[in-house]
This record gives sequence, C-alpha cells and structure tokens, in this order.
Amino acid sequence: MDALVIVGAGGHGRELLEVVEAVNKVEPTYDILGVLDDGEPDLDLLATYGVRHLGPVSLLADLDARYVLGIGSPYARRAIDRAATGWGRVPVTLVHPAAMVGRRVTLGPGSVVCGFASITSNVLTGRHAHVNVAATVGHDCRLGDYTTLAPGARISGAATIGDGATIGSGAVVRQGLTVGAGAVVGAGAVVIRELPAEVVAVGVPAHHRPPVPQLGWY
Ligand SMILES: CC(C)(COP(=O)(O)OP(=O)(O)OC[C@H]1O[C@@H](n2cnc3c(N)ncnc32)[C@H](O)[C@@H]1OP(=O)(O)O)[C@@H](O)C(=O)NCCC(=O)NCCS
Repeated sequence: MDALVIVGAGGHGRELLEVVEAVNKVEPTYDILGVLDDGEPDLDLLATYGVRHLGPVSLLADLDARYVLGIGSPYARRAIDRAATGWGRVPVTLVHPAAMVGRRVTLGPGSVVCGFASITSNVLTGRHAHVNVAATVGHDCRLGDYTTLAPGARISGAATIGDGATIGSGAVVRQGLTVGAGAVVGAGAVVIRELPAEVVAVGVPAHHRPPVPQLGWY
C-alpha cells in the first residue's frame, strides 16, 4: 500500500477521500495518512471519514508519502505542485472505479478522474488535471496542467483546454476549439468560439469580457 495524503480538507478534498475509498474497495492500494490543510478544517466532519488533519501543507516536505491535491483553484494547485516537486514528493493519479477512461488516454501526474466521468480516446492531460463527477471528454482532446472540469462539463472532440483553465458545471465546449490558459467558462455556458487566455466567459453562446490581467496565469 502506498502512503497517501490528501492536500485540502474542504469539499473537494473530501470528495477525493471518497475516490480513494472507492479505489481501495476494488483493490487495497492506498494507506491514507490524513489530510493537510493550512486552514482550520471541520475536525468532526473529517472524523466521519476516519482521517486526521495532520497540519499545514508545508508538512508534505517531511512526509514520506505520495499526495493528491483536493483543491479546486488551479493557481493553488500549481503553487503546491511546484513546492511538492521541490521537496521530492510524487503525486498519485486517481481514477474512480466508476469512471470510464479509454485505453489510449494518458493522465498526467496528480490527475484525478471522478465517478461517472468519461474520457474516451487519444486524450492527454497535463499535471494535476481534475475531471469532476460526470464530466465528459471526447476523442483527441488535450487538457493542460491544472485544468478543472466541473461536474457535468462536456468537452467535445479535439478541443484543447489551456493550462489552468476551468470549465464550469454543465458547460459545453464545441469540438476542435481552444480555451486559453487560465480562462474560466461559467456554469452552463456553451463555448462556440476560441477563448483567449484568462477571460471569464458566460452564457449561450458564451461571451467574454476582456482578459483580467490580475488573474496572471503566466
Ligand atoms: C462565471 C463565474 C466564474 C462568474 O463568477 P463571478 O465573477 O463571481 O461573477 P458574478 O456572480 O459577479 O456575475 C457577474 C455577471 O455574470 C453573470 N453570470 C455569472 N455566472 C454566470 C453563468 N454561469 N451564466 C450566465 N451568466 C452568469 C451574472 O449574472 C452577472 O451578470 P450582470 O453583471 O449582468 O449582473 C461563475 O458564476 C461560475 O459560473 N462559476 C462556475 C461555477 C461552477 O461550475 N462550480 C462548480 C463547482 S464544483
């Protein structure tokens, strides 16, 4: 069994605990040491998962354990990944047993695929890409580092989701399009044109305001 810590004890971190439990149920794989979080997690709630709050994220420097990032923000995921890599830590790639991941799909280190998500064929993800519950990714897509597909997002074939981009719940990206790095697609939006980096796009069809420089993905 690999010793594993979940970084982030909020809602997404606890969802990943459920993914680990589901994986372990099929085949005992991970020994969960606990969760790391710089805040003050709800210890009573955590206790219902049978895990402890070990302390702040910086403890990862000294833990002989693999890790997975239970954090929604791509910016936070990138920062922690860089620190963890510097500390010599190696993430795990987690796939819920109820997800459908094709044989010709390559998931980058730290990537997570939640229950009922589907990634079909010839898809490549970068580091710590998160494909949430019931999101779908069509053939030949590229998901960059630290990308987030919220529950039910639909990425049509041969689309490219840039590093750090977030696709909101139930949003649709039409085939072959590129969503720029750090862009955010609002819940329920339908993207029918290329989206530049760092814009926030909403609506059907999706419209965006000018890029928001302070987001600073680069
Ligand atoms: C797009 C989004 C990031 C914008 O958040 P925000 O910057 O806080 O924006 P606000 O709520 O202040 O709304 C700004 C404007 O955009 C509109 N808007 C926001 N989200 C929208 C959406 N999903 N669809 C259509 N319009 C939306 C608001 O009505 C508002 O319009 P107005 O200026 O005419 O009043 C956010 O609403 C969103 O959809 N996030 C994704 C949520 C999600 O999928 N979560 C999954 C978690 S697991």
